[in-house]
Amino acid sequence: MATAVLGLQWGDEGKGKITHLLAQGASMVVRYNGGPNAGHTVVDRGVKFGTHLLPAGAFYAGVTSVLAGGVVIDFDVLRREYDEVARHVGAKPRLLLAENAHLILPYHRTLEELEGSGSRFGTTRRGMSPAYRDKAAHVGVRVGDLLEPRRMAERIEWRLELLRREWPKASELEALDPGELVRSQRKLAEPWLESIVDASDVVGRALVAGEPVLFEGAQGTLLDVDFGTYPYVTSSTTLFAGIGPSLGIDPSLVTRRLGVTKAYQTRVGEGPFPTELEDGVGAALRERGGEFGTTTGRPRRCGWLDLVALRYAVRLNGITDLALTKLDVLEGLPTIKLCTAYRIGGVETDRFPLSGDRLADCEPIYKELPGWRGALRPASWSELPAAAHRYVAAIEETVGVPVTLLSYGATPEDTLRRDL
Ligand code: IMP
Repeated sequence: MATAVLGLQWGDEGKGKITHLLAQGASMVVRYNGGPNAGHTVVDRGVKFGTHLLPAGAFYAGVTSVLAGGVVIDFDVLRREYDEVARHVGAKPRLLLAENAHLILPYHRTLEELEGSGSRFGTTRRGMSPAYRDKAAHVGVRVGDLLEPRRMAERIEWRLELLRREWPKASELEALDPGELVRSQRKLAEPWLESIVDASDVVGRALVAGEPVLFEGAQGTLLDVDFGTYPYVTSSTTLFAGIGPSLGIDPSLVTRRLGVTKAYQTRVGEGPFPTELEDGVGAALRERGGEFGTTTGRPRRCGWLDLVALRYAVRLNGITDLALTKLDVLEGLPTIKLCTAYRIGGVETDRFPLSGDRLADCEPIYKELPGWRGALRPASWSELPAAAHRYVAAIEETVGVPVTLLSYGATPEDTLRRDL
């Protein structure tokens, strides 16, 4: 059975741990959106990694990893983490690259700085939006171009010419040489020059053959370019549906859609966040949960779990079941709140607005539940404290899908599976 792992919040839900856990039983792990803006925390055999581009399949022998067409690749980042993981596992992981995936080139990061979107939107400054924009504007460079250096240099030359017209005073752009860029990119991509494939064909065949293919989502539903809190969003489709255009496959073949949510809410970067706690409780969640960005190190904003947003995310993705992460971070709180509705202009609603600006006007309405004491180390569901049980049940009832994985620590062992 094929499975997709999807973030249901503003990213950082713990997808890294969950995909790492499930990758062990997969034949293929396919990353299908975003780029080095993602930060997946993985603890593999006691060693902690923060991966940005490398799919979790790389940690297991015999599992093929794929970067799909919808991903934008920064080869500088990919090469560094591939070499690091290869050293750790003592072998070269099998990694295939879609020939139609786009490259993030140094001028994409320069452009993001020149435009100031880092400070305006709190982006990760990894060149994401300029790279996706170049793709849509037909001026991008694709992985397949690495095999045709002359054509690649011509494309870059044309792109630089346009950029220099737009930014005549930018010396960083002036200094760039297309031929040199092609040489350096080919050098970085050297381990994979023979692993550039039609990913639609490779992954499509595996799906039709009924292989256990795992799709690794990046970012979260609320950062989706169309259905997130626009304009405070990322530049790719983070939803389950994004698997289709990213790979050119029939997404209905992916029958399990596992949504990942933390037991509370976090956000990094700018944008509305109705349940944000700017008090001691928010600070305690940040400290206990180690809520600092994997990619940028920025402190994450923390708050109570927002069930209005979660129900919306479950609906948008057709989620079949949930992985609830970081439940241990709530230990010891006397009461825990769950946001079940919003009040906007004096009117109560349980609908998530399609605009980030409207979400900023929403006030949360909470339901209070008792907390629990003591460390959460349940060997089975029946060992969960009654209050923790009630908390999980309240989430399931509101969003309408069951929790099948419960995570209460960073390592794979700190996980409880539930067969339904
Ligand atoms: P960008 O993806 O770098 O353009 O950033 C756009 C927004 O998405 C910013 O608020 C980032 O903080 C956020 N973002 C992008 N990737 C991630 C992620 O993997 N986790 C959490 N937030 C992210």
